[in-house]
Amino acid sequence: MKRHLTSMAAAAALLVAGMHAGHAAEALSVLHWWTSGGESKAIRVLKDDMSKQGYEWKDFAVAGGSGTAAMTALKTQVISGNAPSAAQIKGPLIQDWADQGVLVTIDQAATDWKSHLPAPIDQAMKSGGHYVAVPFSVHRINWLWINKADLDKVGGQPPTTWPEFFALADKFRAAGITPVAHGGQPWQDMTIWETVVLSQGAEFYRKALIDLDQKTLTSPQMVQVFETVQKIRSYFDKAYHGRDWNLATAMVISGSGGMQFMGDWAKGEFLNANKKADVDFVCAPAPGTAQAFTYTADAFVFFQQNGKKDATPGQLAMARTIMSPAFQEQFSLNKGSIPVRLDVPMDKFDSCAKKSRADEQATLKSGSFFPSLAFGELQSPVTAGAITDVVTTFMNSNEDAKEGVRKLAAAVQVK
Ligand code: BGC
Repeated sequence: MKRHLTSMAAAAALLVAGMHAGHAAEALSVLHWWTSGGESKAIRVLKDDMSKQGYEWKDFAVAGGSGTAAMTALKTQVISGNAPSAAQIKGPLIQDWADQGVLVTIDQAATDWKSHLPAPIDQAMKSGGHYVAVPFSVHRINWLWINKADLDKVGGQPPTTWPEFFALADKFRAAGITPVAHGGQPWQDMTIWETVVLSQGAEFYRKALIDLDQKTLTSPQMVQVFETVQKIRSYFDKAYHGRDWNLATAMVISGSGGMQFMGDWAKGEFLNANKKADVDFVCAPAPGTAQAFTYTADAFVFFQQNGKKDATPGQLAMARTIMSPAFQEQFSLNKGSIPVRLDVPMDKFDSCAKKSRADEQATLKSGSFFPSLAFGELQSPVTAGAITDVVTTFMNSNEDAKEGVRKLAAAVQVK
């Protein structure tokens, strides 16, 4: 009895302490675009962690791969004075929001982050020398996902060059399998185009998409990029227009589609369908891109609440949780990514993730670890948007490759 009373007193004391710290009642509204099967499973890890810490989670999920719709919703929320506690943002947009003076700094939570993060990602989380964003994980974009049973059926191998890729695509077609599962939405078109740019070599990617060098943008090699993209398109099925990325992944999961170009959130879908790497599906760097790594690093920023400039206890707790090794591991196991924290052990991960980690390390050293243009990591939204328009128009018309190149060069010059 006495022991019981003591523990009740202890519990009451804890509760009071919690309330003083403002923990018990704080609600965290969270805007994100993780709505597919694998994505929801990943964000649920954070929701559960925050609930265990006594915070209320108000989910504001805005469907739409790559977050285009979510970014519009975020603007509306902020303008109408309802900024969420946390929002999924990445790349130069982090800086843009910080420049608006609406974010809080989270330095208090970030005491040792620098030593645990890849340098370019650490840098991208800061504004004016202060941390304003917390990173979740590293997604590799330049992957090709292949259905293993289909591959075995046609006696194929993961292709390492474009000729090998097209030979395999022909075999799939002959076997009645849609060779390339694709969703015709601008960001998915960009995923393919950017990956083909990368296949021309790290220097080419750098000059074309980072430096926006006119000579490279108008080179015969760039004409070749457009021609290759055009040829890849001829292996889509007829119903590709507007298809969501996870439905294209579902085609490869079921085997009605042979391959998909997609970042490794696609793996989250395979895993969510109980499929295993090397058994049911194969991940291979897209043809010609084995020596390079295009990445996107999801992050949350935190908005000022109730006119206060400082982060709330809940916002700091969320930032700490996201960067904690245990969360980093579980989130990426569900999401298909690799932990952004470099000290998280990889033993629970599959061969795709292990390869991703090894290639991340190698390309960080070789200088071919590149932010992805397609995923808003590289150029301003205006420039990225202008390039996306050119690519998407090209992919949805019978435009000639040379015309595509001419338009690309012009679009980039105007900006
Ligand atoms: C995000 C991923 C997400 C994907 C599809 C990307 O922009 O980085 O986390 O899974 O979009 O929605």
